Amino acid sequence: MTEKQISGLVTSLQQQIASASGIPFSNFMEQALYHSEFGYYNTVRTRIGKKGDFFTSSSVHSCFGRLIARQLVQMWELLGGKCFTIAEQGAGEGHLCLDILDTLETEHPEFYRQLEYRLIEISPDNRHRQEEVLQHHCLAGRVVWCDLSDLKGMEGCFLSNELLDAFPVHLVEKRAGHLQEVYVINDGEGFCEELRPLSCHAITDYFQRIGVDPAEGNRCEVNLAACDWIEGVASILERGFVLTVDYGYLAEELYAPYRHGGTLLCYHQHQTNDDPYQRVGAQDITSHIDFSTLQDVGCRNGLDVIYFGHQYQFLMGLGFLEMLINMENQETDPQKAQALRMNLKTLILPEGGMGESFKVLIQGKNVGIPQLLCQKRIRDIGLPPGAF
Ligand SMILES: C[S@@+](CC[C@H](N)C(=O)[O-])C[C@H]1O[C@@H](n2cnc3c(N)ncnc32)[C@H](O)[C@@H]1O
Repeated sequence: MTEKQISGLVTSLQQQIASASGIPFSNFMEQALYHSEFGYYNTVRTRIGKKGDFFTSSSVHSCFGRLIARQLVQMWELLGGKCFTIAEQGAGEGHLCLDILDTLETEHPEFYRQLEYRLIEISPDNRHRQEEVLQHHCLAGRVVWCDLSDLKGMEGCFLSNELLDAFPVHLVEKRAGHLQEVYVINDGEGFCEELRPLSCHAITDYFQRIGVDPAEGNRCEVNLAACDWIEGVASILERGFVLTVDYGYLAEELYAPYRHGGTLLCYHQHQTNDDPYQRVGAQDITSHIDFSTLQDVGCRNGLDVIYFGHQYQFLMGLGFLEMLINMENQETDPQKAQALRMNLKTLILPEGGMGESFKVLIQGKNVGIPQLLCQKRIRDIGLPPGAF
């Protein structure tokens, strides 16, 4: 992102702040990430992977998508083994979609022929990257881009990986017993914050619904966009599953008294910081997901909770270890085998990896509560003798 783009975004934000005498932080974050011309996701830049700002599981190794493909095969069978839609929102550079479709094409051609993979993407730059990566499957007629509303009546699985953590959040703080909202103002020298009364009742309703009262002095994020999102997904899904992967916690842990400053974090060239007012438009801004709210709002809109677990449990259940052992056995160069092992470990390690902070939620509509492959317990996984 050029200096000119950064200053264009800063000027636009300052004008909005001046004309409204301050804006809720959620508006600031929305513009910083999704401003049509200068927002972080709308400019041309490498965001994901080694040359970008952050890694995602699908950028770590194709094994992530290959294991999810196994779960999708079972979902397809549960729905009768006929036409099936996989909808993925926020597909980044399209690697998860690619790994799933490559796997299905070679290992489950019948499923591949019957499926339609729909992508919903807000960022023109990411859409362009997805089109390039997915050329082969587009030509095969499997991939179509669309809006959420085009999916009304969908039967299949609605998939996302790290979508919700990129939604704009309201920031609130408990002061003298009352929740106050963070507004962004301009003090003459730049962006700064001011606490004001809540911008909407939905924030009060949100905490009432989850039964959590933030501790005095604590700051926390409220992702109202995620509530609207799960309602929207529930309404378009006729029959099937919603598979959501993201980092986050159940509400009690997300809003625990010891989490004084909340979870808002910015990413730039693989460094994290907690200052969303620097490099505006040139760094990602994220926050952890409240999985209690996703489950609760989902339930109220017809989505049953089928599975909720850590990413490492989910991947192990789907055969992570067997896949790792097979890949290692096929690798003749010991150094490459070691590198493969280290890389794949990132997906399941708790410390410094994605295994524990990332969670997987699977909700279902009109499918009952089936026993899913990912629910296989670690003690039931049979490994070849001498595997380790
Ligand atoms: C952190 S990236 C996700 C990465 C990707 N899923 C992966 O596995 O590498 C967030 C993605 O969500 C997209 N996004 C954010 N808000 C969106 C929305 N409301 N609708 C569609 N896509 C959205 C962004 O453009 C980006 O592609």
